[in-house]
Amino acid sequence: MRFGTLLKTLSTAAVLSAGAAATPATAEPAGPLESQTWSFTGPLGYYDEMQLQHGLYVYQTRCQACHSLGLVRFASLSGLDVSEEAIKALASTYEIPYINDDGDRDTRPGVMNDSFPWALDNPKRAIATYGKAPPDLSTMARARIGGADYVYNLLVGYDDAHEQPEGAYYNKVMKVIKMPNPWPADMSDFEYPNGTRPSLEQQARDVTAFLNWTADPYLEERHQWGIIVVLYMLALTVLSFLAYRVVAAKVHAKLEVEGGPDPEH
Ligand code: HEC
Repeated sequence: MRFGTLLKTLSTAAVLSAGAAATPATAEPAGPLESQTWSFTGPLGYYDEMQLQHGLYVYQTRCQACHSLGLVRFASLSGLDVSEEAIKALASTYEIPYINDDGDRDTRPGVMNDSFPWALDNPKRAIATYGKAPPDLSTMARARIGGADYVYNLLVGYDDAHEQPEGAYYNKVMKVIKMPNPWPADMSDFEYPNGTRPSLEQQARDVTAFLNWTADPYLEERHQWGIIVVLYMLALTVLSFLAYRVVAAKVHAKLEVEGGPDPEH
């Protein structure tokens, strides 16, 4: 009886979790993802710092009005090869909400230790405005099946020609999405700091690479450690083989002198 109850509980749990996995939209892409070549995939993957800086710029221009990066401290931007002065200057342009000494809600300029704040007032207002609260993007690139490819395909997947209910938009990756198309029809509002005027695909690639870095900032260190460990293991293998040869030679020599069973058998 008890065993039966256990089985029933387990199978209910399985059905529930299968149901959760099968819910559309957020967990799995609705269509096939066009896979991209990224510098950071594969065992020797690395980040292109210039691309990450461009991605940060795209995030600031096109995404931060709705999305926070609550797990990304300004100080960590040194990983993008940004100088400390530039980071301090950038942090101070953000208004960080806090409760002042009178107990009132207030804002102050950001410092190195703050993270990218949520520009929207509160989740209920966000839901009232967009129908859904824009999620924090810190770990998004690792939270979705397909990873960076998912984010990239979502960003380039809008098709405004499709009819949708009021307040919803069509996207190849999420058929009904509450996030408006982040790309304006006229891109002339946007130029990278080095003067290039990039395509939608370029901006989408750069911001995706940046979001992959926010979700996995230690990727390069991990890969470096991986290589060091493999080299260490190789060195150990060679050493133990040499040690075996020395010991085996001594045993052979001893047996030859003292006689005994044929050492080759
Ligand atoms: C006008 C507000 C707004 C802007 C600007 C915006 N988003 Fe969103 N975003 C949303 C909302 C709302 C959702 C929730 C959509 C839903 O679940 O239907 C969302 C969801 C997302 C998701 C998660 C999709 C999923 O799988 O659940 C990603 C990734 C994302 N946005 C990336 C971006 C990026 C990158 C930019 C900048 C290029 C950006 N967004 C700009 C409002 C915005």
